[in-house]
Formats: sequence, structure tokens, C-alpha cells
Amino acid sequence: MGSVPTPSAAAVFSLFTKHQPSLNSSLSSINSHMAAASSLSSLPSDDDDDRLCSETAQQKEREQHEDCSMGPPSRYLGSESRIERAWAHWKKLGQPKLIVAPMVDNSELTFRMLCRKYGAEAAYTPMLHSRIFIETQKHRTLEFTTCKRIARRGNYGAFLMDKLPLIKSLVEKLALNLNVPVSCKIRIFTNLQDTVTYARMLEDAGCSLLAVHGRTRDEKDSKKLRANWGAIKAVRDAVRIPVLANGNVRHMDDVHNCLKETGADGVLSAEALLENPALFAGFQTAEWALGSEENFEDGKLDQTDLLVEYLKLCEKYPVPWRMIRAHVHKLMGEWFRIYPHVREDLNAQSTLTFVFLYDMIGRLRELGRIPLYVKEAHAEEIYANGTGP
Ligand SMILES: Cc1cc2nc3c(=O)[nH]c(=O)nc-3n(C[C@H](O)[C@H](O)[C@H](O)COP(=O)(O)O)c2cc1C
Repeated sequence: MGSVPTPSAAAVFSLFTKHQPSLNSSLSSINSHMAAASSLSSLPSDDDDDRLCSETAQQKEREQHEDCSMGPPSRYLGSESRIERAWAHWKKLGQPKLIVAPMVDNSELTFRMLCRKYGAEAAYTPMLHSRIFIETQKHRTLEFTTCKRIARRGNYGAFLMDKLPLIKSLVEKLALNLNVPVSCKIRIFTNLQDTVTYARMLEDAGCSLLAVHGRTRDEKDSKKLRANWGAIKAVRDAVRIPVLANGNVRHMDDVHNCLKETGADGVLSAEALLENPALFAGFQTAEWALGSEENFEDGKLDQTDLLVEYLKLCEKYPVPWRMIRAHVHKLMGEWFRIYPHVREDLNAQSTLTFVFLYDMIGRLRELGRIPLYVKEAHAEEIYANGTGP
């Protein structure tokens, strides 16, 4: 790309299609991780948990890259044509509505595959370091780590919200020079008008798909703080490119309400999917199902089933143990609250093995099952779709 400043970290928007079950990189998504020349250089350490979970297994990941190029870069296109092209691309992707949000260390291939089985239609990869990704084979299979200090120093993440001219020039240069569409993911400002101006700026700069996380960058605790769907609606009304809504999508009722209230073209979910990767297939955790006025029944699926499925995928497509450990804690959080001694056993393992984890699952099942629930009226539909156990 010559002298074009490249984002040092980017996430890829991967699409699942029925005909092509692999994960196709289809958009160059700079999300909120844009940066001009960054010195980000942290590599996976040699900790036990950074080892791949199956060192002997071959790296079989065969990412089939559908040609998502929309022709030459859009440098000669006027704004009308760019908007048309953004929609043409969105339609080409099949207009996915149920999307796995980018999660560093958590939305790796195996987790995305599990979510796909349970209804997700597309997913962002975790953040990748662009230069290292291009230069190093190892990093095309290993995910990259980050932290807030690095994000600030590297000029990406929501820290870039202080540097709007820099964001504008990055998006412009990427849109002018890439032959794949550029998508952005932003947080909102406290002031609604600032958010709308920010979104319009990105659209004018050439962004083709905009995901809006309806919280400000100071609103850290996404479980406690509701996302502002009103601000997402204001962005939806102000721009003409496809918009995705993010925040407070914890079960399918949220999906429907969010799409209705915001007018967005799809939703992203993060935290809730970590706890319940079957969310998009209509399964709910007890936390939501039991407090609801509607009738729910045991969905004949629980988080130990999902963990077994996830581990089987990890045996086939190895990932670092630290990612597996993180998923075990998120998936089994509710079970560990009830059976804390099992969590303590897990924490005492400096080196994890599949044998230990399958044994732990067996112990949890013997202690007592915590089901995922489905709406009575939807149970048959869910099983007919093949997402049931
Ligand atoms: C473990 C974890 C890692 C995340 N990593 C990223 C990231 O690398 N880039 C990003 O734009 N957002 C990241 N996010 C934020 C999510 O994509 C999402 O915007 C946020 O969690 C709000 O969605 P939720 O309310 O569904 O959790 C991460 C979230 C979690 C929980």
C-alpha cells in the first residue's frame, strides 16, 4: 500500500454461509482498532497457557477466501456510488443479522464455529496485528493479545476517539486503496450530536459498514450499564450505509427488540455469547428465562454440552490453552458459582489438559445440571432447525 498508513490492528468480518461452511474473510474491518504506524509488538509469551492445546495436531485450518473484492478501489467513485457499493456488498454477504462481535482472545475460530452451529450468521475475528499478520505465518493461526495500555500507546481502540482527523484520514486512505470494503466499529460519545457527526464522518470517508456499540468508552461494565439504543437509532437515521447495533443483546427477545428500536441491519453480541454460545438459536440462560413472564421449558441443552462441543473443536483446530481457560470460566460461570470447589480445582491447574477438562465436566454433571431454556412455543422450531442436541 505504499505510503498509506495502515491500521496496526484490525479484525476481519467473517461470513458463514450455508453453501460454504468455512469462515470467509469478507471485509477488512478496522473496527475501533485503527492506527497509524504503531509500535505494537507484543507476541504470545511462553507461558503454559500460551501453548497450543494440541501441539501435534496439524494446523488444518483451510480458510477458503471467497473473492469479496468489489472491483478496484473506490478512489474514483462519488458518494452515491460508494453507498450503492456498500449495499451491494452487504447484500452479497447475505445481510446477516446475528453476528458474533470481535473479542480479543475470545472470538477465535473454534468459538466462532460453535456460535455458527447455534445460529450465528457472521462473526468478527478477534483483533489481529496487521503487519505481523501479513509477515508471519504463525500469526495467521494464532490470535493476538492486547491490553488497554498497548491500545493507548498503539493509537487504536476507543482511544482513537480523541483523534477524529486521524480516524478520518485512515478510513479515507484505506477506502481509496483497498479493493475490499472497509467497515468500522465505534463507541458512542456522551453527546448525541457528536456521535452522529462521527458516524457521518466515517461514511463520508468511505466506510461501508458501521457497527455501533451503544456505550461511551467510559462505560466499562457492559453487564450493569444498558447500551443506548436511541443513539444507535440516531446513527441509523443519519447515515445511508448498513449499520449494526451492539450492546445488551442477551437473548433472542433482545435481538428482535433491538432491531425494531434501532432500525439497524443486524446485531452484534459479545459477553452474553461467551456465557451462552447457543443464544442465537433461541436458548436462554436461567437468569433471563426464569424471570420472564412467558413459559419456558428445559431446552435439553446445557453449558456442559456446549463446552464439550467447544473442546472437540479445539482438539481439531488447536488454540492456545489460555483461550480455552477463558472460555471454560465464562461458559461455566454459573455452575462454578454453585460449585466453587470445582472452580478452585481448575484454578489450581497451571497446565490444562483435555483429560482434566472432560473429567471436570463429568464431575459437574454429577453434581447437578443447570439447563438452558427455550420458549415453549419455539421448542419444536428450534429442534427442527437442527440446533437442538
Ligand atoms: C472478552 C472481550 C473482548 C473484546 N475485544 C474487543 C476487540 O478486540 N475489539 C472491539 O472492537 N471490541 C471488543 N470487545 C467489545 C465487544 O465487541 C462489544 O462491543 C462489547 O462487549 C459490547 O457488546 P455486549 O454488550 O454484547 O457485550 C470485546 C469484548 C469482550 C467481552
